[in-house]
Amino acid sequence: MLDIFKFKKDSQKEFVLDINKIPAHIAIIMDGNGRWAKKRKLPRSMGHKAGVETIRKIVKESKRLGVGYLTLYAFSTENWKRPKDELSTLMQLLVLYLKKEVDELNKNGVKINVLGDISKFPIECQNELKRAVKITSENVDINLNLALNYGGRDELVRAVKLIANDLEKQKIKNEDINEELISNYIYTKGMPDPDLIIRPSGEKRLSNFLLWQCAYSEFWYSDIAWPDFTKEDLQKAIFDYQNRDRRFGGIK
Ligand code: IPE
Ligand code: IPE
Ligand code: MG
Repeated sequence: MLDIFKFKKDSQKEFVLDINKIPAHIAIIMDGNGRWAKKRKLPRSMGHKAGVETIRKIVKESKRLGVGYLTLYAFSTENWKRPKDELSTLMQLLVLYLKKEVDELNKNGVKINVLGDISKFPIECQNELKRAVKITSENVDINLNLALNYGGRDELVRAVKLIANDLEKQKIKNEDINEELISNYIYTKGMPDPDLIIRPSGEKRLSNFLLWQCAYSEFWYSDIAWPDFTKEDLQKAIFDYQNRDRRFGGIK
């Protein structure tokens, strides 16, 4: 067993990750930034800033462990309800993150994809995102999906419209519509469904995340706020996942 797959759980027992059972796709709802800041009597923006640091660490560790796809829920279709100054902080942080990190991510073989409709984002944000996607498009080591202005329902509405359009143009026939076809009309086209969905911050809900794709995902919740989430927490989540019995409706 390679040493990189050996970890200490709860600083006592050593646990070993199975190199052959690393989830192909991990999706994370990066939640708890605001409460993290509040607890420290800091403005919410500081929580978001601290959350960006966690992104750096988790992308690095995911790549090291051989995760193929890492999807990070960064902004939902419902997050527009937040105060203007918080929205502007989030957009600014996104631009800063991309400006600072894209070259390094590119060097590390990270391919960036966007899930969601970013046309409502400030133009600078859209440009940085397009640049990041373009620069990293040939990379193959790990896919980093940034879910931005993403909503599972919105994604399905969009897919239905696209399918209706292709039916009208007779590109497809009614009989062609099946699960596989629908999977090809959503943002995660060509990607495996998430094996593991992680939500820190104590909430136990999906908040409109990957509704189609999560049919057989394993869930892992934790009270840790996203800014405090460490690579060891990721390892623990994967370890838990590896010890689950996934039956997909069948019998073992
Ligand atoms: C997650 O943290 C970041 C986004 C939703 C953009 P929150 O801002 O939701 O933090 P809490 O849930 O209020 O603590
Ligand atoms: C989900 O978190 C969205 C992101 C982390 C981007 P929220 O904080 O928006 O979810 P709710 O409101 O607690 O369900
Ligand atoms: Mg939240």
